[in-house]
Amino acid sequence: MPRILMFDSGVGGLSILQEVLHKLPAAEIRYLMDNQLFPYGIQNDEVLVERIVKLCMHHSNDCDLVVMACNTASTLVLPALREALDIPVVGVVPAIKTAASNSKTACIGLLATPATVNRHYIDRLIADHAAHTEVIRLGSSELVKLAEKSFILDQIDQQQLAQILSPLKKHSKLDQLVLGCTHFPLLKDAIAKHLDGVVLTDSGEAIARRCAYLLEQRGLMSTSPLHSSSHQLIATQMPEQPDALQKACGKLA
Ligand code: DGL
Repeated sequence: MPRILMFDSGVGGLSILQEVLHKLPAAEIRYLMDNQLFPYGIQNDEVLVERIVKLCMHHSNDCDLVVMACNTASTLVLPALREALDIPVVGVVPAIKTAASNSKTACIGLLATPATVNRHYIDRLIADHAAHTEVIRLGSSELVKLAEKSFILDQIDQQQLAQILSPLKKHSKLDQLVLGCTHFPLLKDAIAKHLDGVVLTDSGEAIARRCAYLLEQRGLMSTSPLHSSSHQLIATQMPEQPDALQKACGKLA
């Protein structure tokens, strides 16, 4: 029975969890959210690296795989984490390559956290896979907070969403948008309504495929689904609305 530690600052990684459970229904997920330092997109890089490595080491001892279900962390901490752990670590990479190759207008957007859009990792990704494409970068922690709140309370402030997305609407050529933060697929349908004609791309399915491949290689694939109570939710501080969070997570199982 494969055991996976899945990590994010908040509920964003649940968008990845959904894809992973779809592909690997027998996996047992320990979902760890560092809500004490949420949102990650405005935190100091060194603080994040030290903290994430420590948390993952502490919570992954009986796991077969770690999924860093956070772009802000993945674009920063993967080398240190792989060095520290002796199990495979799967990271989330913004789907810039896919969006650039699917774009007909050679103009794509990257919607992520302020930290992610400014990372050298992203500069390299663009240079390697989207060199001839215009990439519009929009970093927003407001959108991360909106996604977190909307998921837990099951309602979206459409006016705030429209205002956050408005800089993208100025680019009439834009035909693909990379959701480079795992919180944003939770708002996928709502974002799509505000950006008519733009194709939204995220990395959830690719992560699930990678997990399946790595577990298969280690002979840990099992196909019989588990009861959802085998999953675990750990938070680094008491969530503000634990009952609403529990209820929202229940919808995913
Ligand atoms: N969900 C995370 C990401 O993919 C983190 C968002 C945040 O805490 O700022 O980047």
